[in-house]
Amino acid sequence: MAFAYADGVLCAEQVPLEEIARRHGTPCYVYSRDAIERAYREFTDHFASRPALVCYSVKANSSLAILQLLARLGAGFDIVSGGELARVLAAGGAASKVVFSGIGKSEAEIRGALTAGVRSINLESEAEMVRVNRIAGELGVRAPVAFRVNPDVDAKTHPHISTGLKQNKFGVAHTEAERLYLEAARLPHLNVCGIGFHIGSLMTDSAPFVAATRRVLALAERLERAGIALAHFDLGGGMGIAYREGERCAPIAAFVHGALDALGSRKETILIDPGRAIVGNAGVLLTRIEYLKRGESRSFAIVDAAMNDLIRPALYDAWHEIRPVREAQSGVPAGVYDVVGPVCESADFLARERPLAVREGDLLAVMSAGAYGMVMSSNYNARPRPAEVLVAGGKATLVRARETVDQLFAGERLLP
Ligand code: LLP
Repeated sequence: MAFAYADGVLCAEQVPLEEIARRHGTPCYVYSRDAIERAYREFTDHFASRPALVCYSVKANSSLAILQLLARLGAGFDIVSGGELARVLAAGGAASKVVFSGIGKSEAEIRGALTAGVRSINLESEAEMVRVNRIAGELGVRAPVAFRVNPDVDAKTHPHISTGLKQNKFGVAHTEAERLYLEAARLPHLNVCGIGFHIGSLMTDSAPFVAATRRVLALAERLERAGIALAHFDLGGGMGIAYREGERCAPIAAFVHGALDALGSRKETILIDPGRAIVGNAGVLLTRIEYLKRGESRSFAIVDAAMNDLIRPALYDAWHEIRPVREAQSGVPAGVYDVVGPVCESADFLARERPLAVREGDLLAVMSAGAYGMVMSSNYNARPRPAEVLVAGGKATLVRARETVDQLFAGERLLP
């Protein structure tokens, strides 16, 4: 277990979170190296029997140290911006293992990706296909491309993170795909190399994922008959994790083997782009209680982390487990608290109605905060963003210093 109690104190691997708070302050994201590596290896182990590349979805957590860990293990990367490409390269990742997704790639981003030599640009519209062909021609290269097909399959997840339905803005329509592939194959500066899909994030059931695989496979077979051979099949990401103890969530094996069974004996290289499943349960947000406040109808634990540090509860009504860093101590009265931050918004909560026996000054760990935590943080209310610490065994390393207030307005200018 990456995060477990030892002698009554919650630890990250072998390091007590109290020690990290003392050394680096709060709020602070803490990651377990072992948990990240194990989750990554779970994917590669399941694919061991055939050519495959696990492309970690950088958007889930793009801290350089985490990208570096994964690059060293041989991971590929799924990116959605020039900024993410720069991060991957700075962390030692190989451009030849990068797939570039996203519906709004700019000219500069396409140019940068082709110059770096990415493995595939995942096209999401006809207009983008035309643009990539033109830029590749200007650069004198052939752009490796795949279409992201929208299979119109319901991922049965939160509407904000569902992407595979007709009404979503992502991918090219399933009904349009064949025509676009034939068109792309005729364009002189494109090298049609693959096909892919991604129907949504936080899927707790593998059935929609397997259904989408079947649907896109049928399309690939039609393309093959039309003379278009594909080198890779990209399954996207979206495998869920359990945020609550006992929560039912299909294991990685169900997703991977469900897709592999559907694909049968086909020879394409399989790409898969998990983000959350690799880092989600490998991180916590460590925070300290500033005040306990009894309202008329509710009690509040006001902590030093807020919605600007972790926006998932405010944005998706997401549930994160809250654990006291020191296990319940005798003499501390138990209460039911909303865990809230200092930001001036009623949406600024990290958890609601949680039974806790805590005092002012106590530390809390917001669990399962490794994915879509730090990457979605902001400076709202002029709050510097948290520090990040990576733990490996008994060693805790500061991998991102806490932001300072000076850094917040370093690029601003007063009027003359
Ligand atoms: N591939 C594509 C094309 C994607 O759009 C995404 C996520 C992934 C892979 C990785 O999905 P994952 O394996 O992490 O589920 N902020 C939200 C999640 C947004 C996901 C966006 N796309 C959250 O906090 O739940």
